[in-house]
Amino acid sequence: MKYVIGIDLGTSAVKILLVDQNGLVVQSVSKSYPLIQEKTGYSEQNPQHWVDQTLLGLEELLKSFSGDVDDIEGISFSGQMHGLVLLDEVNEVLRPAILWNDTRTTAQCEQIYDLVGKEKLLEITKNPALEGFTLPKILWIKAHEPTIYKKAKTFLLPKDYLRYKLTGQLHMDYSDAAGTLLLDVSKKEWSLEICALLDLDPSMCPPLVESYQEVGTVSFEIAKATGLSNTTRVFAGGADNACGAIGSGILKDGETLCSIGTSGVVLSYESTPNKDFAGKVHYFNHGAPDAFYTMGVTLSAGHSLSWFKEVFAKEETFEELLSEVGSVPVGSNGLLFTPYLVGERTPYADATVRASFIGMDSSHERKDFTRAVLEGITFSLHESIEIFRRNGKSIDTVVSIGGGAQNDEWLQIQADIFDAKIVRLTSEQGPGMGAAMLAAYGCGWFNSLNDCADKFLKEDKEFTPNKENVEKYKKLFAIYQKVYVQTKDLNRELLEFRH
Ligand code: XUL
Repeated sequence: MKYVIGIDLGTSAVKILLVDQNGLVVQSVSKSYPLIQEKTGYSEQNPQHWVDQTLLGLEELLKSFSGDVDDIEGISFSGQMHGLVLLDEVNEVLRPAILWNDTRTTAQCEQIYDLVGKEKLLEITKNPALEGFTLPKILWIKAHEPTIYKKAKTFLLPKDYLRYKLTGQLHMDYSDAAGTLLLDVSKKEWSLEICALLDLDPSMCPPLVESYQEVGTVSFEIAKATGLSNTTRVFAGGADNACGAIGSGILKDGETLCSIGTSGVVLSYESTPNKDFAGKVHYFNHGAPDAFYTMGVTLSAGHSLSWFKEVFAKEETFEELLSEVGSVPVGSNGLLFTPYLVGERTPYADATVRASFIGMDSSHERKDFTRAVLEGITFSLHESIEIFRRNGKSIDTVVSIGGGAQNDEWLQIQADIFDAKIVRLTSEQGPGMGAAMLAAYGCGWFNSLNDCADKFLKEDKEFTPNKENVEKYKKLFAIYQKVYVQTKDLNRELLEFRH
């Protein structure tokens, strides 16, 4: 039996999957690392933690692997998007990585609009300037840490740095490069025009590759440290959302994914780069050949639920916390939650807004709050589905993966709020599976990623919308949408009290 490894470098942990030729996850290991949040809006990580924890995870995985390591033919990666890793001339890390959920760069986003222009930016990158993207972070370093900026010779995204440490080769794949705001998405090349307008040296941009492209083999030192064979082929990998799409079989027109991790996304396959969503949703290169996807992002999806558990149910498991949700009626007895704990992306790109519970009543119990959190996260994701539908997309089936697919009640809430059939897969490993599939395809096990998906992915269960609930949620969604409009200015006034 032959194997591949998929490494998903997430925001809270790295998850490593060992997958066999039938698509079976034969072993998996997860290793966490901390988030550094010095100030409100700041979110950083130490790249060395990613490397250390991945090596530890690989070592653990291989220790309990009873097969022949030479049969592990390939490795590939999925990674949290947009994070800025700056390297000096000898490829040493210059400062902690600034992550996708860091929102300190509002002024730099305005600077991008001033110097590049909204229309040109959208024409080239297919996306608006958002705080979470990489380019504004580079400009922030240039303005606030000039000494570091002067030393910077290359910038990478998180999984590219990890791959560099495993192979000694510097690369970035198109699906992740699309989230930097420096890639010409249709032409698949770095935009020299944007670099020139912002006075950035284009030599900082690493060589571009396809996600399924072979970029080297595991270095001798890494093979020795982990127990891997140094003949194991390494494939570039992709952005976590592109890999989540591959690992859920979102590989054809009309297919849609809802993925709930720390952030939550609704993502839809596109075969061309030329549809016009006016920048309301992200438009990125897929990890699959000649493909793209559009996507709306809820910044605090799973994060809202983990925050709620951490603050109000620290001693309980997620299962215990969610076990009562089914006994609370649709609408959580009049309690409404908006999940803007760290600001929001879709449909309001707003770094300042914060979350709310609206309608608290003395009869409410904790379970009402729990259900309200699940409903609020799902309403936020529904905003993206509504944008897709308004632009002519038909969305009648959604594959759901991640935290949101762990609980039947939540899957039914998704079906009722999205008014669409929700599909759960038997193995919904999402990004890690997508990374493994890129390695399997790269190794030549299949003629296409579609063939690989046919073999590796199976449907487990469907959840169909309950008409009565759909109607109730339509009314509640209209109320939910008013909360942003009515709280955004209040949150701006509260800003000076946040630390
Ligand atoms: C997508 C985004 C997040 C991260 C999470 O634009 O910022 O989904 O990729 O890892």
